[in-house]
Amino acid sequence: MIPDSIIEDIRYRCDIEDVISSYVTLKRAGSNVKGLCPFHSEKTPSFVVYKDTQSFYCFGCGAGGDVISFIMRQENLDYVSAVEFLARRAGITLPEFDGKTAPDGPSRTRILKMNTDAAKFFRDMLFDDTVGAPGRAYLAGERGLSSAVVKHFGLGYAPRGSALMKHLKSLGYSNEEMEAGYLIAKGDKGYYDIFRGRVMYPIIDVSGNIVAFGGRVLDDSKPKYLNSADTPAFKKSKNLFALNYAKNSSEDALIICEGYMDVIAMHAAGFTNAVATLGTAITSEHARIIKRYTSKVILSYDGDEAGKKATDRAMGLLREAGVDAKILVMKGAKDPDEFIKKYGKEEFRRLLDESRSRFDYVIEKTVSKYNMENADDKIKAADELCREIASVYSKIERDIYIGKTAEALALSKESVKHDVETIIRRNARGEKKKQTENLIRITSGVSDRVNPDYAKAPRTARLEESVIGILLIHPEYVSLKVDGEELKEDDFFTDLGKRLFSFIVEKNREGSFSISHLVENFPQEEVSRAVKLQMSRRELSNDDKAYLTYASALRKEIAGNASSSLEDIISSKRNKK
Ligand code: UTP
Ligand code: MN
Repeated sequence: MIPDSIIEDIRYRCDIEDVISSYVTLKRAGSNVKGLCPFHSEKTPSFVVYKDTQSFYCFGCGAGGDVISFIMRQENLDYVSAVEFLARRAGITLPEFDGKTAPDGPSRTRILKMNTDAAKFFRDMLFDDTVGAPGRAYLAGERGLSSAVVKHFGLGYAPRGSALMKHLKSLGYSNEEMEAGYLIAKGDKGYYDIFRGRVMYPIIDVSGNIVAFGGRVLDDSKPKYLNSADTPAFKKSKNLFALNYAKNSSEDALIICEGYMDVIAMHAAGFTNAVATLGTAITSEHARIIKRYTSKVILSYDGDEAGKKATDRAMGLLREAGVDAKILVMKGAKDPDEFIKKYGKEEFRRLLDESRSRFDYVIEKTVSKYNMENADDKIKAADELCREIASVYSKIERDIYIGKTAEALALSKESVKHDVETIIRRNARGEKKKQTENLIRITSGVSDRVNPDYAKAPRTARLEESVIGILLIHPEYVSLKVDGEELKEDDFFTDLGKRLFSFIVEKNREGSFSISHLVENFPQEEVSRAVKLQMSRRELSNDDKAYLTYASALRKEIAGNASSSLEDIISSKRNKK
């Protein structure tokens, strides 16, 4: 358990608006601020941040909570790690967590230390006269890397056998720790080293920790690359190879490519703004991380079918994150590494400069898909492009694309513009409808996953929500006497209502309650629901008089209707038969 005082301190120093605005572009809307929800895809902002209660709520997808729940969702962390994350951000030290073993395995700190020792070992092995000879021959010969580049990236060599395991054991690491760090695995004959006979690429996060490894065979055997699986210190979907260097590059765009060797070759040639995903396609998490450093990227994927698919996917995700992606078209080589070797860095610089905007790429793709001599085909192409343009947020950008489309399809600008605007209006209606439906679904309790008891007696449940809503704003009301007696858990109807009420009572007794306390103790969806109840109640009467009225009505409803819940009605009907 993290002491309450530290949590308070973190909340005090991590203003929710500050924290969220480093992920989401927020615009002022009345006393609150609004933006595009990072947790679902939308084009009109329904994500609201409330400064006074230090909470957020999305009217589109129902996500809500405090600054810690935001970080839990956004960074995909559990409660304790989210607290640590914010503590680091605010410069608060949490000494009691250092090196402490979590109940379910080795800590991140321990694994990072082990990775550092492993990386040292791999490096020593690479430079060992006999053991490292094949690795050195491969890197210097076949890959043409200078020893400066090898050292800069901390490359190493994993010998055959179980050398790493023996070495780490001598340093005091247990098999469980090595297994959790994805350095050894268990087979029929016991534990063995995962990386054997491979050149090793340490993966370093932006804080300089060695979080994982990639290893490549020296010949054509398979699998060509092995990458660390997710460990307590590493998440594939969130790390980019060489971002630790690229983040310091003076270029304003990042180059994203597919392979370790492409990155290394680019850095060696002076393009130190190159990064790669690690044996996985780009994820929305990658896109958001990239957005923290730059809003411009150049995608430099392989020219093959797989590379084109990866480009399409990456463009979509990057755009959602607000990153503008250009596409480098590879000519005469398979990948950047090969290209630079064949044609040199000046030619590669030219390719970079020629990289085209996403929309040019989309136009070209669409035009080449259809036969422009055929009227039907041309209409289809125009429709596809107009839809594409309609999904762009900026009007200026849309105008540019309208011009380009008109030119590419030999149509008038006016007609393209007209069609785009029609689609925008249609989309807006669709989205509004979806949001309303969503809201109706949530508030009516039909198929309510978060509060499954709701549907049993919606009227009673709604009353209960009013009472809970008021208590979430004024927790001290729990001690008010309702018709002579304080409310009790039995006066509540749904399981969620009972739990929320008891929790408010408990925290109120300890001296304070805020939504933040819920975050530690309730699942995310329930926290979101509580924030929603609190938020919607703020617009309605929520003083002590309202509380007494609703509370009294709720108690009567429950006492009187004790036997008239839906289930009871059904079962009593059954019994009559
Ligand atoms: P490629 O197969 O395109 O290889 O894989 P490459 O980068 O050109 O590799 P070299 O030049 O032959 O050394 C691209 C990336 O996909 C991942 C790796 O991250 C690699 O850098 N990959 C590939 C794997 O994770 N496992 C594999 O077996 C192959
Ligand atoms: Mn390659």
